[in-house]
Amino acid sequence: MCGIIGYIGPKSIVPVLVEGLKKLEYRGYDSAGVAVVDGGTVQIRRVLGKIAVLEESLRADPLQGVYGLGHTRWATHGRPSERNAHPHIDCTGELVIVHNGIIENYLGLKKRLREEGHAFRTETDTEVIAHLIEKHFRGDLAAAVRAAIAELEGAFAIAALSSRDPRKIVVAKHGPPAVVGVGEGETIVSSDINPILGHTSKVVFLEDGDMAVIDAGGAAFTDFQGAKVEKKVETIGWNPLMIEKHGFKHFMLKEIFEQPEVIRDTIMGRVSLDEGEVLLDEVGLSAETLASVRKAVIIACGTSYHAGLAGQLFFETWARIPTTVEYASEFRYRDFLLEKDTLVVVVSQSGETADTLAALRACKPRAAAVVAVTNVVSSSIAREAQGVLYTHAGPEIGVAATKTFTAQMTALALLGLYLGQTKGALEKKALLEILEEFQRLPHKVERVLSQAKAIEDLAQRFVHFSHFLYLGRWVSFPAALEGALKLKEISYIHAEAYAGGEMKHGPIALIDEKMPTLAVVPRDRVYEKMLSNIAEIKARAGFIIAVAGAGDAEIGRHVDVVIPVPDAHPLLSPFLSVVPLQLFAYDIAARRGADVDQPRNLAKSVTVE
Ligand code: F6R
Repeated sequence: MCGIIGYIGPKSIVPVLVEGLKKLEYRGYDSAGVAVVDGGTVQIRRVLGKIAVLEESLRADPLQGVYGLGHTRWATHGRPSERNAHPHIDCTGELVIVHNGIIENYLGLKKRLREEGHAFRTETDTEVIAHLIEKHFRGDLAAAVRAAIAELEGAFAIAALSSRDPRKIVVAKHGPPAVVGVGEGETIVSSDINPILGHTSKVVFLEDGDMAVIDAGGAAFTDFQGAKVEKKVETIGWNPLMIEKHGFKHFMLKEIFEQPEVIRDTIMGRVSLDEGEVLLDEVGLSAETLASVRKAVIIACGTSYHAGLAGQLFFETWARIPTTVEYASEFRYRDFLLEKDTLVVVVSQSGETADTLAALRACKPRAAAVVAVTNVVSSSIAREAQGVLYTHAGPEIGVAATKTFTAQMTALALLGLYLGQTKGALEKKALLEILEEFQRLPHKVERVLSQAKAIEDLAQRFVHFSHFLYLGRWVSFPAALEGALKLKEISYIHAEAYAGGEMKHGPIALIDEKMPTLAVVPRDRVYEKMLSNIAEIKARAGFIIAVAGAGDAEIGRHVDVVIPVPDAHPLLSPFLSVVPLQLFAYDIAARRGADVDQPRNLAKSVTVE
């Protein structure tokens, strides 16, 4: 994780770096720093804490420079501290580096460099890169970086500068992302496109093994051996305004409210109601590949894994394809069995999650095809998968995923319907009914959102509770898991989600009046079973809040509070039931004064294992 940025051009360097770092802060925010070059000297400022602390320090004691680098950190090696914050310097103080990733062989390198006389100041793995570049430096920074990275094992996106080879920044990528923005008389490098878009819409995505030497006139690209590489300049359509808060107190709340739009945007152009058809040729699966698919594996982490659990039911029900769902971090280390008739679907909002990317790479040679469901155009996962289905959710800034969960479920549902349609497993009439329900879904989500005030009032009663149980069965189980994850990650309250039927196998021992339950109970095939689970909780003095169908007149007799959501096609109910759970978690966290958009210890893009 961590975010890197570098700028060279006519604009005032410190504001460009600080504004860019604010946009990268989701990648880590335990410490930050900048380095700027003024004439022949490099000046550095590093702080423990968020970008706001860095900004304040720079306001109180400004730095002067013409070009420079910045970094926001999520600690891996070395605790968060001013000393361990990037940028890191060599022994001379003339060479500076920022790094995202992990250098696995840093201990051996550090020992050797120490023996050769290099003095280390930090506990980080990154510092070895600065000293390695120093060791190889003979006046040409790019050549020294090339020689240094030949000795590195691990993952890195780095940007380096040296006042002894001035007015250039050298970038190298092996693993974590790096994007170069090429403007008019200015060039910028960053971990993602957000800091770039305010300056230029023309970007180049570096591939693993790419280096770039950037100056105000543009960028020259080579491979790690120094051979010239031709790169495609892409034009990005995202508008920087799309990432403003639009009057919401937090990005997370804004993003929860964007969900109706996100469903509309993700299905737009991909269904034909006239023909009763799903149009997903864009995914790029040939008719031959589709015909060969007999099984599916969905691989993801965190919230994306929860969306994958819903996807499993979509695939099995609509396409009649046996489907399993796997944590990428577990799957990649198994001696997994994958047959040539298996479709692998990797789900990742960021498209950069290290474990998901590694699983993709492991599966690619062995599967029928690997398809990525991702939100970030040209992310590593999007580029490496054989087919891509983009979730059109727009940028998600809140670290806790909300609208992208909904967008992922939408995309997986479309894929499930598409597979069902092409394999002839789904009758036209049934398909049309589901597609029509999809058209109604955004409006139904709006109706759930219109209850935001009532949910806020309810949440206030639970602000001081320390434990929550979330229950759901069948298609409501992923919603329960997701609701519990939201509460945990943004309010730091212990929350556990269980499949209702598992209750009596252990978790029921936890129930007392101090542990409320949020039960997701749409009127579906497991409704009666959930009522039994609810009765078991009530018999043990548990307080129950149910998210249930608005047309359900009975549920109120079984639980303490009902949050009604519109009735829906049974398999599409999680699109509605997850929304009150997101709001409930948000309201509790906001009332507790938690840092909702940037919860402690987390980062939006997990590019380390
Ligand atoms: C939770 C959350 C994380 C991510 C997970 C995977 O709110 O955001 O659990 O879902 O880190 O990230 P992506 O989807 O980018 O692969």
